[in-house]
Amino acid sequence: MELTPVIRAATNLWSSLSSSPKDSHYKLPPMLPGAVPVLGHALEMRRDPVALIQRGRDMFGDIFSMRLPGRPTVVMTGHRAQEKYFRFRDEEVDQREVYRFTVPVFGKGIAYDAEPEIMREQLGFFHAALREARLKTYAAGFVEEAEDYFGKWGDEGVVNMVDVGNELTIYTSSRSLLGKGFRTHLSAEFAHLYHDLEAGMNTLSLFAPNFPSPSHIKRDQARVKLGEMIGKIVEERRAKGSDSEDFMEALLEATYKDGRQLSAEEITGLLLTIMFAGHHTSGVTFAWTAVMLAKHPHIVADLRDEQEAVLGGRTDLGLDDLRAMHKLEWSVKEVLRMYPPLIMLMRKALKDLEFGGYDIPAGTMMMASPAVGHRIPSIFADPHRFDPYRFGPGREEDKKFPYGHIAFGAGRHRCMGVIFAQLQLRALWSHLLRNFDLELVDPPSSYVMDYTNIIAGPHPPCRLRYRRRPQAKVSRAS
Ligand code: HEM
Repeated sequence: MELTPVIRAATNLWSSLSSSPKDSHYKLPPMLPGAVPVLGHALEMRRDPVALIQRGRDMFGDIFSMRLPGRPTVVMTGHRAQEKYFRFRDEEVDQREVYRFTVPVFGKGIAYDAEPEIMREQLGFFHAALREARLKTYAAGFVEEAEDYFGKWGDEGVVNMVDVGNELTIYTSSRSLLGKGFRTHLSAEFAHLYHDLEAGMNTLSLFAPNFPSPSHIKRDQARVKLGEMIGKIVEERRAKGSDSEDFMEALLEATYKDGRQLSAEEITGLLLTIMFAGHHTSGVTFAWTAVMLAKHPHIVADLRDEQEAVLGGRTDLGLDDLRAMHKLEWSVKEVLRMYPPLIMLMRKALKDLEFGGYDIPAGTMMMASPAVGHRIPSIFADPHRFDPYRFGPGREEDKKFPYGHIAFGAGRHRCMGVIFAQLQLRALWSHLLRNFDLELVDPPSSYVMDYTNIIAGPHPPCRLRYRRRPQAKVSRAS
């Protein structure tokens, strides 16, 4: 990782963004000790952001400040602080500056680069594309993709589960978003370009999205080519018409309030936006699920009983079956509690705000942290323990505080892909549970979080051994 340009760019850019709020007459949240000149807590943040935030919470509780290059950041954890954080209105807090790093990938005028009213309309198109009526088609696609992918595995082997998760979810996403036709012809070139695009969103991009680093140059070249590829499909489908039940179709049918249709460039940008929102997040959750289940065989036994109860011997599962797999649902939810892919969620205060007797002046960066918030014992009992049944009848710890489980965010900008992501993960795991045994290859303590990417997952190589289950071998042979 190119540390020197990060430091230089971070220092220049963050200080040029806007000056720190004038603090003289404000009662600011306590400042975490340990900041160094210019960089503040940035190096500690880079080493282990979760340990840094936890340190602040341990010292000061629900609200404290830390210093990231250029300006203070207020961190809010705990159920009251999280509720307050997620209930701020768009007029009070802003995501646009925080997500500026997405603009070179999503495109000009798309999502966080669009005017607030247009962005709201664009998010509305996502709602339409993820609505109930389309879920059945998406679910069928997830099941088919799982069968195809794992059908190619041998009887035994060792895999990197992060790679498996990312590969699988690119197939499932591209199929639901761009259509079965596109997925069938999903070329190595598309996968390669998409990889370059994703690799061009790294820690450096957070501070200096346009810094001409090698990864950013590749990202921009890939974006141009992907734009051409997707743009061509848009033009063809507009010309020929299509009855596909995919996301692209929803965008082709959509119009802005003023009656204008979306341009090919806008459709491309929105497709890449939704693909980014849902791809890596689901991929790393898949990988952590593998690790946690391999560590907890008694849960696997329960999940297999549930598969039997829901499906009997059937393999033609559909949306209703996936919805009936409650223990699997709790298990994935528990994985997301312990290892949320988005460990920090950021906003910028647009107005002077307050919480817990402290002021948050306009211009301050604000942070909530699913990773730290999910390990607070007053919200989740024995929080370092993997215990899917905490969400089951009689306990329902997620209902205790509505802003307690925030892996998908909360409030008005809560993830729109919650159901999509959950169904996708359940479809993949239903197949794996019925067909394979999994075990860790390396010592259990070596499966740790990797914080080098914006979306945090297990540290590579995340190796697991799979073995096809005896009855699955028979049915495969037959
Ligand atoms: C396990 C998988 C996923 C996780 C953990 C996740 C997490 C999140 C989080 C935490 C946010 C809120 C960000 C913030 O408050 O700043 C968010 C927003 C969003 N997610 Fe997801 N996501 C996942 C999968 C998906 C999928 C599959 C899709 C679409 C198919 C999707 C689409 C979106 C969209 C459109 C938003 C923006 C909502 C808004 O700003 O109103 N996500 N996601």
